Amino acid sequence: MRFAMLVCLSLVSVGCSSDSDTKTPVQDDGGTTSLTALPCEVAVIAETHCTQCHGDPLRSGAPQALLTLEHWAAPAPVEASQSNAQLSVARMGDADQPMPPAGLLSEEERAVIADWVAAGMPAGECSAATPADPALDAAPTCSSMVFWPAPEHHVTGKPDAEMFPGMPCTDCHLDPFAYGQNESGPAFDVGGTVYPSVHEPDNCNGIDGGLLTDVVVHIEDATGATWDLQPNAAGNFHLEMAGLVPPYSAKVISNNGVRAMSLKPMSGECNACHSESGSNGFEGVGPVAPGRIVVP
Ligand code: HEC
Ligand code: HEC
Ligand code: HEC
Repeated sequence: MRFAMLVCLSLVSVGCSSDSDTKTPVQDDGGTTSLTALPCEVAVIAETHCTQCHGDPLRSGAPQALLTLEHWAAPAPVEASQSNAQLSVARMGDADQPMPPAGLLSEEERAVIADWVAAGMPAGECSAATPADPALDAAPTCSSMVFWPAPEHHVTGKPDAEMFPGMPCTDCHLDPFAYGQNESGPAFDVGGTVYPSVHEPDNCNGIDGGLLTDVVVHIEDATGATWDLQPNAAGNFHLEMAGLVPPYSAKVISNNGVRAMSLKPMSGECNACHSESGSNGFEGVGPVAPGRIVVP
């Protein structure tokens, strides 16, 4: 309880029990009328670090919601011998497979959850909500309103590295005829495009990396080797053959935060999975990508 005051005072988006805060009674939470609230210090951590994926809707391949006491007490979907709460404590302390996937939280935050679970998970007065994520809720659009101007790969006055944003890079480079090109291009270890929102069409420019210079795509391969790739003026990034050993992990980092991919792909063709529709994933099995790679 020692942390409750500190955490609740610093974050007003979650309903906290102190009088000055906006309270979020569970009854207001649509379909969860009969469900039980969490202690406020637990709800704050869940809402800040978990429910953007483990919320309603579930996002980024997270298998279960963590909004209410019932959710935390339920058997974990993949490891049903443990509750979501027990497995959360384990995963929050597992540096190899951390939850949240972006990396371990502070010891204080982890202790709040671990102590609560060890105490038998008493109910509280705050509900965690799914934080609004305008980028992931956005309707299909080309935010930049700038398109690659021609079907040709080479356009006078445009750097080659800005070609065909949103399209699979190496797939066309190695199989140009399938894409109406008559020349092949180089294979990349990794190639893709970072966008401001989740459903943007092929050939639409992504973020302008010339202006948003804080944005990097951070890659770590199976050997621990890392690369930081800066998106260019079309939002495109690529890594020429650099000996990357798959599977690798990927995250996008900016001054606003981190969007991390928890699954580890073998293929470096980011845009093959991160298409406009958000219906492509691991070759038809398992979770699908939410859509484009979105800047935090
Ligand atoms: C960026 C999205 C994201 C965030 C944020 C996130 N998770 Fe997850 N979580 C996932 C995905 C995807 C999986 C399934 C793949 C895996 O197990 O790594 C998962 C799996 C889990 C599992 C294992 C479920 C099972 O049955 O194997 C637990 C427990 C869990 N998360 C707890 C948490 C907790 C607690 C937090 C916050 C402290 C959190 N997660 C934050 C995406 C996320
Ligand atoms: C529709 C097919 C197609 C797609 C999709 C495509 N390219 Fe290309 N790319 C080409 C062709 C053809 C070349 C020509 C090679 C040359 O002229 O040397 C090329 C060349 C390049 C070059 C110059 C390489 C060199 O060594 O000269 C870069 C850089 C490049 N592409 C980046 C990308 C990136 C990044 C993507 C993905 C976001 C991408 N391309 C997607 C067709 C494509
Ligand atoms: C084989 C398919 C596949 C490839 C290749 C792939 N992704 Fe993903 N990506 C996914 C899936 C599925 C998810 C949702 C589950 C998860 O987070 O792991 C995802 C999620 C993400 C997320 C988190 C989404 C969010 O906003 O919460 C980021 C960031 C991301 N990917 C970046 C990348 C980057 C960068 C690359 C290339 C270097 C890449 N991905 C390549 C399938 C793929």
